[in-house]
Amino acid sequence: MNTIGQSFGGNWTEQKLDCVRKYLKAYTTIMNKQPFKFAYIDAFAGTGYRELMLDEDESETLFPELDSQEVINFRQGSARNALEAEPPFEKYIFIEEDKENYSELEKLTEEFSKKNIECRRTDANEYLTDVCNKNWEQHRALVFLDPFGMQVEWKTIKLIADTQAIDLWLLFPIGTVNRLLKRNSDIRQSIREKLNQFLGEEGWYKVFYKLAYENSLFGEVERWEKVGNIFTEIEQYFMKRLQGIFAGIATNPLSLRNSKNVPLYLLCFAAGNPKGAPIAVKIAEDILLKELCQGSSLQQLD
Ligand SMILES: C[S@@+](CC[C@H](N)C(=O)[O-])C[C@H]1O[C@@H](n2cnc3c(N)ncnc32)[C@H](O)[C@@H]1O
Repeated sequence: MNTIGQSFGGNWTEQKLDCVRKYLKAYTTIMNKQPFKFAYIDAFAGTGYRELMLDEDESETLFPELDSQEVINFRQGSARNALEAEPPFEKYIFIEEDKENYSELEKLTEEFSKKNIECRRTDANEYLTDVCNKNWEQHRALVFLDPFGMQVEWKTIKLIADTQAIDLWLLFPIGTVNRLLKRNSDIRQSIREKLNQFLGEEGWYKVFYKLAYENSLFGEVERWEKVGNIFTEIEQYFMKRLQGIFAGIATNPLSLRNSKNVPLYLLCFAAGNPKGAPIAVKIAEDILLKELCQGSSLQQLD
């Protein structure tokens, strides 16, 4: 196996990056005609590229003309996507906590030396808390939150919405949330607290569990049971939560699934500025719909 760069994702990663890439272009085209300073903030930026795991045969068949160093650049990560967007952003802010990933990420500042790039090795929630509390009157931003799991706290999402100046693409780890919701409702206290923090409230329990009644020798017994259509319930619940704090949201988040068709993530879009939200949401919904149609036609070919 030939392993190159930072490894994550499958086809769904391409779908995710494709949607954001299309939105970047629409965003900068519109913002160029507006009086605001505008930036791209990638708070889980990674290395800037994605790892390819190919065996020798695959490498030679797929990329006969490339050496391994060039193959790295073939699969772009989100940071590189943004740097190559045309028209460009005025500023790029890349956040990455991991030391090794960060030192790779920093190399982008040399490669794209003409662009205004700020890299920070820090925690995404801390950075965003700080930046969202600044004055946004003259500023706008597109934020991409692409964590592996439940690293984005609800209070961070709320602060982003409160700026009324940020468009947000967010990867919601629906697969992880589902796994934590035990079928028999027996969820450890530490996990409950983690979910409370992640979802920003405690009401989720009565959405994802319903009381069921059973006859036993001692009469009727009641117990909490996980609802049947859990992925739909989690999606609807989270969409409602976003809708409650943002000026507008795309109502058709993209379900990113593994090769067994099990949902892993939801790719969500939300717009913070009340004036700009209708058009921003329309663009994002169109992009998500096209990606969904392309995904299903590819599946039919499989
Ligand atoms: C899925 S990867 C990001 C991939 C990237 N968006 C791309 O397309 O190339 C998630 C990254 O977030 C980083 N990370 C995890 N927790 C973080 C945190 N709390 N703050 C900042 N970065 C974090 C990880 O080290 C990892 O590189």
